[in-house]
Amino acid sequence: MNILVLHGPNLNMLGQREPGHYGVATLKSITARLEAMAAADDIRLQHFQSNHEGALIDRVQQAASEDVAGIIINPAAYTHTSIALRDALLAVAIPFVEVHLSNIHKREAFRHRSMLADQAMGVIAGFGEHSYYLAYQGLIANLRQDA
Ligand code: DQA
Repeated sequence: MNILVLHGPNLNMLGQREPGHYGVATLKSITARLEAMAAADDIRLQHFQSNHEGALIDRVQQAASEDVAGIIINPAAYTHTSIALRDALLAVAIPFVEVHLSNIHKREAFRHRSMLADQAMGVIAGFGEHSYYLAYQGLIANLRQDA
C-alpha cells in the first residue's frame, strides 16, 4: 500500500518555529518515525513539503497516477484559505486525514475554520508530533478495513 504525507508552508521549520505551538521535533525526525512505522507495516510512504500552494496541488494531482491509497496532510496555513487544495483532493478522490500539531480550535478564530475538514476521513489536532502518528494509524486501520 502506498501512502503520501504532505506538509504545507513553514513546516520545514519545525523544531525552531514557535516551539510553544509546534514542539521541538523536526520534520526530519517526524518523517523518520513515520517511515519506521510504515516499514513495520509493509507500507510505502512518500513525503513532500512545500511552501507553495500550487506545488502542493501538483503533488496531489500526481498522486492520482501513483496508486496512492491515502494521504496524510498538514496543510498548515492553507487549511484556512485554500479552496484550490480542497478541490485538488476532491478531484483525485483519495481519502485523506487532516493533521495539525497544535489544537487549532484553541487558537485564533481564523484558525478554527478548515477548507478541508468536512471532506476528510478524519482530523487530528493538538497532539504535537503525535498527531502525525495517530493520523497514520487511523488512516491505515480504515484503509485496511475497506480493502
Ligand atoms: C498548523 C496550524 C495552522 O493554523 C498553522 O498555519 C500551521 C500549522 C498545525 O500543525 O498546528 O502552519 O497546521
